[in-house]
Amino acid sequence: MAWRAKHLLGIEHLGPDEITTLLDLADTYVDLNRKRHKHSDALAGLTQVNMFFENSTRTQASFELAGKRLGADVMSMAMQASSIKKGETLIDTAMTLNAMHPDLLVVRHPHSGAVNLLAEKVNCAVLNAGDGRHEHPTQALLDALTIRRSKGRLHRLNIAICGDIAHSRVARSNIMLLGKMENRVRLIGPPTLMPSQIDHFGVEVFDDMHEGLRDVDVVMMLRLQRERMDGGFIPSEREYYHRYGLDQAKLDNAKPDAIVMHPGPMNRGVEIDGELADDINRSVIQEQVEMGVAVRMAAMDLLAQAARATPTEVMA
Ligand code: NCD
Repeated sequence: MAWRAKHLLGIEHLGPDEITTLLDLADTYVDLNRKRHKHSDALAGLTQVNMFFENSTRTQASFELAGKRLGADVMSMAMQASSIKKGETLIDTAMTLNAMHPDLLVVRHPHSGAVNLLAEKVNCAVLNAGDGRHEHPTQALLDALTIRRSKGRLHRLNIAICGDIAHSRVARSNIMLLGKMENRVRLIGPPTLMPSQIDHFGVEVFDDMHEGLRDVDVVMMLRLQRERMDGGFIPSEREYYHRYGLDQAKLDNAKPDAIVMHPGPMNRGVEIDGELADDINRSVIQEQVEMGVAVRMAAMDLLAQAARATPTEVMA
């Protein structure tokens, strides 16, 4: 079994063998989660603390369920009501929690790099549940598991990631993961929503959906992330939907068995047609949510095993 990482901060730090190990283990958790009794004791006796400094529905719920199904003591902090509001810094909050000996710390934060910084200060395993526009590793891993189960493989596929790439940590983590597993990645979207350093990504770039979607196996749609926009990136939502929203006519350019994905939360009629999102013959959006719990169980299980293998020293 290949797993070396002490923290799950990003896809950037994982090797293809570690990704495969995690997905293989997640497959077994998918089976467990479909049983009536969904319990294992992989994390029994361990404490998991969730700190979400940004709103979240599916990510927070699935980390919480994942920990509970593996027998951990799980606490989700209400960050809105925390001492951060009284001026305490992120690091002080983390150090306070650290003194309570958690084993796993799950963190979402609006600033890119904040979770990496925190991981340097605490002596437990840290999982990045999304930091700014930087990385969202468990999302890329659950997307990978969804693709692998649906397509029967995770290599040599044509995958289009469409929409607001510039503000998306989901896109960044997916580009890295899919590249490491030797897929061909295309990015489709308006030039205003493409990251500036696009040349370094090893991807093809399109600004026309019909052209970009030609013969792809997977279509991954992204939300327009208005909370990260500080100006007019698109003319209007109507115009955006017309050019970049996924509907049946645009999808007809893809392979006949192409799957449609979206990390959620989705804006129906802005980046995707509502009926297409619900079409169980094309859309795997609900499967993505299901895979999310299994992938987070696998990630926490592997980090707990790694910690058992090399106990960290208590920091001074
Ligand atoms: C994504 C996120 O938070 O980055 N959502 C998620 O985790 N399911 C994508 C988004 O917010 O658009």
